Amino acid sequence: MDVRKKIIVITGGMGGIAQACARTFKNQPIVITDYSQKLVDEAVTTLQKEGLDVSGIACDITKTADIKSLVDFVGKAGDMQALIHTAGVSGTVNDLKKVYTIDLVATELLIDAFYDIALQDSVAILLSSMMAYTVAPYDKYDDALTNPQAEGSFETVSQFVHDSSDVMYNFVKRGVQLLTHKNVDKWGEKGARILSVSPGVIETPMALKAAEEHPERMAAIKQATPLKRNGQPEDVADVIHFLAGHGARFITGTDILVDGGVIQNIKKMEP
Ligand SMILES: NC(=O)c1ccc[n+]([C@@H]2O[C@H](COP(=O)([O-])OP(=O)(O)OC[C@H]3O[C@@H](n4cnc5c(N)ncnc54)[C@H](O)[C@@H]3O)[C@@H](O)[C@H]2O)c1
Repeated sequence: MDVRKKIIVITGGMGGIAQACARTFKNQPIVITDYSQKLVDEAVTTLQKEGLDVSGIACDITKTADIKSLVDFVGKAGDMQALIHTAGVSGTVNDLKKVYTIDLVATELLIDAFYDIALQDSVAILLSSMMAYTVAPYDKYDDALTNPQAEGSFETVSQFVHDSSDVMYNFVKRGVQLLTHKNVDKWGEKGARILSVSPGVIETPMALKAAEEHPERMAAIKQATPLKRNGQPEDVADVIHFLAGHGARFITGTDILVDGGVIQNIKKMEP
């Protein structure tokens, strides 16, 4: 009998956390995706040179047609073991709608598309952020964050973010966690899991760009981190690797913080 390959799918494949994740799956086929073919080719070439079994396809995660091509590509390669969804933008894009669409709406599009090919023991691991923990639970925006594609949801959330893309980022990352709660039963019926991971400050291109814009704040965060260092992509990748495997078979519908312990101290620093 033909044994189907178990595929690890990683979005945002050129990103710092994505590449570190890929490197933890040395003996498994990986499908990498990012928004342009050029970025995908670069990522695939780099990782193949390191001996990884990796292929790739471009996918702008805000486009349903691209997501469909990605899901078809994965289906041809084998069975989905894990979707590791790292693609995203930070508040530095300075565009409320862009942050909302890429980080939250597209996350829901991916969850729905990958649900169709999820099987017993498949898992979706979504990247949230420790900054989600700075947003208190509140019915009015939580309903909108849980239903990001509903009419008026963006406008509702926008009322609470003081016209700041950074604050919108914190809200939509809370939304990512809420999407796992929304989908956990549905995925559970297939014996599949869905959960999120919330990194602290991890030294990737995204974080280093944010550091350039808010140097004092970034220095204060490092100082406030009990472990007195920023995170490295590998700190997050090792946790994701565990969550994608058999050892994490009873973990679903929750968020795992990988922040060096800093969030408790940051909450005291927030206005
Ligand atoms: N680095 C951190 O400190 C940190 C902290 C908390 C949360 N996170 C989250 O972890 C995830 C990965 O972060 P990172 O630092 O590796 O980011 P990164 O900027 O290094 O990588 C993100 C990737 O997403 C891709 N991307 C952006 N828009 C896309 C689109 N429309 N379609 C397809 N791909 C797109 C980019 O091309 C990039 O390769 C993000 O969701 C981020 O919010 C990161």
